[in-house]
Amino acid sequence: MKRGKFISVEGIEGVGKSTNIEVLVQRIEAAGHKVLTTREPGGTPIAEDIRDILTHRGEEPVPEIAEVLLMFAARSFNVNNVIIPALEAGTWVVCDRFTDSSRAYQGGGRGIPMETIDRLADWVHGDTWPDLTLLLDAPVEIGLERAGKRGAPDRFEQERHDFFQRVRECYLQIAAREPTRFVVIDTTRDIDEVKADVAALTDQLLSE
Ligand SMILES: Nc1ncnc2c1ncn2[C@@H]1O[C@H](COP(=O)(O)OP(=O)(O)OP(=O)(O)O)[C@@H](O)[C@H]1O
Ligand SMILES: [Mg+2]
Repeated sequence: MKRGKFISVEGIEGVGKSTNIEVLVQRIEAAGHKVLTTREPGGTPIAEDIRDILTHRGEEPVPEIAEVLLMFAARSFNVNNVIIPALEAGTWVVCDRFTDSSRAYQGGGRGIPMETIDRLADWVHGDTWPDLTLLLDAPVEIGLERAGKRGAPDRFEQERHDFFQRVRECYLQIAAREPTRFVVIDTTRDIDEVKADVAALTDQLLSE
């Protein structure tokens, strides 16, 4: 059985991850592959419970170290119970956020050292990295504007502008360091233009 391909979609809130994941899925299915979508934190029943802890807006503060460990705990469930079994069965996997989110948010945003995050990544998922990562990029104001049209903000969405600015910059640095895995897509452009780019990239991966 040929192993499925693993694609992650990254970017700050509201840049268009969910919108473009639909394009990826349609395209992969149209080419005759099975495709599974998952998200982080989350993707399994226990990992979704951890997501609730991470996004809650209760009184108890969430220490930064607890935040990064919970992210990786959830990731361990998703990788072992969902992502790897699917890939081994030949199913393609599209994940809404993956370890690059931990690098950008807990590293760039909160200031956890990148070596700590990368050591956790190696421990939790070893060589299981996406074959392709789409970094959807737009200025913070645009992302938050688009995301703000939805319901009440969660614990992350309540962060300040400068937090998301650091997250965005960190994402762009990570992408520049791994140019073969990442494709950066400017999502300030017309939605149909962005979708056409995503479709073309998917077709390229399908033909490899
Ligand atoms: N290129 C675009 N131009 C204008 N609007 C867009 C574009 N892409 C997405 N949108 C709109 O922006 C809003 C947010 O998009 P979407 O939900 O896909 O973002 P997201 O990255 O998944 O957000 P979140 O991080 O909160 O899950 C939606 O209303 C979507 O229709
Ligand atoms: Mg989304």
